[in-house]
Amino acid sequence: MEQLTEIQWKTEYKTGIHVIDTQHERLFELYNEMVKQSHTHGILRINATIDELIKYAQHHFHYEESLMEKYQYANSADHMEEHSSFIDKVMELAVANTDGHSREHLIEFAEFLQDWLINHIMTVDRGYIDTIPTVA
Ligand SMILES: [Fe+2]
Repeated sequence: MEQLTEIQWKTEYKTGIHVIDTQHERLFELYNEMVKQSHTHGILRINATIDELIKYAQHHFHYEESLMEKYQYANSADHMEEHSSFIDKVMELAVANTDGHSREHLIEFAEFLQDWLINHIMTVDRGYIDTIPTVA
């Protein structure tokens, strides 16, 4: 059976904006908690962590968006669109997971999360680093 693997937080993922980096790292931690639970518990127990991860992602996006607004980041509309389509997709997959309780759903969910988190942090979030101060 396919096993989920933890993702390692790396220095290269840092934006240099301290609060944002701390929040990104927390998202990685929550992801890894979900992975650990998938190894030790039945998948039913994972849903609470998935809920927490979604709530934390929303909190983080709101924070990031408030900084983009405050510092008048030019691409904020596109960036916000990425956030809201992520939340839509994650909710859809989380519901499938809750209803289906299948490992297949969980793997699909985890793969989506992992790709999105790393790609978003490494590409889309790079866009604002010259606009938002490091100690915003
Ligand atoms: Fe972002």
